[in-house]
Amino acid sequence: MKNRSEPDLIHYPPSIYECTIRDVAEFTSNIYRIRFESEAISNHSRPGQFINIKVSDDLNPLWRRPFSIHDVNHRENTADILFKVIGQGTELMSQMQAAQNLNFIGPLGNSFDLPEDGKENAIIIAGGIGIAPFMLLCRRLKEKNVSIHLFWGGRDESDFYLLEEFERSGANLHLSTEDGSVGYKGFVTSLCEAEIHDILKSGTKNMIYACGPNPMLHGISEIAQRIDVPCQISLETLMACGLGACLGCGVKRRTEETSYYYVCKDGPVFYSDEVDLSD
Ligand code: FES
Repeated sequence: MKNRSEPDLIHYPPSIYECTIRDVAEFTSNIYRIRFESEAISNHSRPGQFINIKVSDDLNPLWRRPFSIHDVNHRENTADILFKVIGQGTELMSQMQAAQNLNFIGPLGNSFDLPEDGKENAIIIAGGIGIAPFMLLCRRLKEKNVSIHLFWGGRDESDFYLLEEFERSGANLHLSTEDGSVGYKGFVTSLCEAEIHDILKSGTKNMIYACGPNPMLHGISEIAQRIDVPCQISLETLMACGLGACLGCGVKRRTEETSYYYVCKDGPVFYSDEVDLSD
């Protein structure tokens, strides 16, 4: 089991910020991107970290919502989040507009461990909106001359967006859809399993990064174990406080049956052999 990075509270402690929204873009399938002005996030966040957004001035919904930091722009001092409308909180966020204020706490959580040199293959696997943390990760991997293979699975062609931007960030794209309308027909785990052996032959070291629904992450963890490649997974889970206080975001540790990690405080990034996603 590798030691993953700890939440970086010393390097750049999270604070509450009130920022200005620069732009709200709507993509397909109820996917939105909010770009906001924040020097703290654009200059001090790392791939895998998240922010906790206050979605309403009312008490309903009461809790903030967590979102991965999707991308940053140092020159513009902006940062992006990407989300899918799935409930009341994200519905309210989809109605936000440029020039409006955005209240959030961040940067929160730990981050993906990055390779030390360029002799590594990064195999990134995303299911649906699980793509959110990976633009920033691709940019950091590209800076390290890492060869990036991005496997992205959706239900149909409407589940893909920003493909050219991912390619500009250094990613070789491998797409799959359940209906076969784009790329491989089937689940992204099957596509990855079919192609990963050729990728592994070309590098001296390899690392898998994954984010998506838990059954997908469980499948990826099993593949990683079979081929003996370290695998970091970013967990998406419901959160309330987002700060380790309410114990509402537990995930079973693999090593100790009755013990839990808390995704907001100990994660959201874990090595796949640390957590038990079999339920
Ligand atoms: Fe409260 Fe994680 S959301 S402990």
